[in-house]
Amino acid sequence: MRIVIDFKAIEKCVKEAGQIVLAANLENASVEKKTGDANFCTEYDVKVQKFLIDELSKILPEASFFGEEETSNNIKDLSREYTFYIDPIDGTTNFMFGYNHSSISVGLARNGKMIAGFVYNPYVDEMYKAVRNEGAFVNDKPLKMENKAVSEGIIAFGCARYNESKVDILFSTVKELFLKSLSIRSGGSAAIDISRIAKGANVIYIELKLQPYDYAAASVILEEAGGVITRIGGGEISLTEPCSILAGTKKAHEEVMKIAKEKGYNSEF
Ligand code: IPD
Ligand code: CA
Ligand code: CA
Repeated sequence: MRIVIDFKAIEKCVKEAGQIVLAANLENASVEKKTGDANFCTEYDVKVQKFLIDELSKILPEASFFGEEETSNNIKDLSREYTFYIDPIDGTTNFMFGYNHSSISVGLARNGKMIAGFVYNPYVDEMYKAVRNEGAFVNDKPLKMENKAVSEGIIAFGCARYNESKVDILFSTVKELFLKSLSIRSGGSAAIDISRIAKGANVIYIELKLQPYDYAAASVILEEAGGVITRIGGGEISLTEPCSILAGTKKAHEEVMKIAKEKGYNSEF
């Protein structure tokens, strides 16, 4: 029997999680340093993830969770039919420094395929969302992207201090893209940067290494709006382990794949 999923309830829950972020008292927040340079977890990352897992378990008790933080209710079990991919705060560094630009990212997969995604930026009350085969939306506005080329738009990229290896090849690619495009940005929340392609704000997002919970939700939003997301070398994105990400309009994605090949990115990326 096929389970009926209450996507509206999931959306509501993601929005409520945004209120925890908005109400955060940053001055007194406890912060833990994770492995690697500039890799942090605040008490709010933990609080939001706990809240999401508790609430989403009520909506879809059959699901397991793949969340970023170590919380008691985050039991990674990718063998179940349904899995929620959760990044409680995508853009923790932005959050810590008062950038007011972070998101709550929740994706849902069924049998290893993404079927829904919600990326919420509480600071501007923007909810990017998509259910597979039902289109993508920002709040209630349908997202239909134009198939723009690199020369017609903004390039977004990400690079975490704790993922510095191979940074030279990334920056040399970004330099080339900068010279071919209208401008470059690094927003600090991969989920928002990828979702923004669906809205036409970026034509490309590129990063050497991201975790599935960074891009799972945004991947459905982008694909439902007509965009493409793969590894930089062109391979399928992974839902079980980290991988590189190249997301974009069809045209820009093709162009950057060509540039990446010339720069020596291979299937390893
Ligand atoms: C980070 C953000 C950033 C990206 C990093 C990610 P976090 O996630 O998405 O934009 O460049 O690679 O790790 O740590 O803020 O959840
Ligand atoms: Ca993240
Ligand atoms: Ca995070």
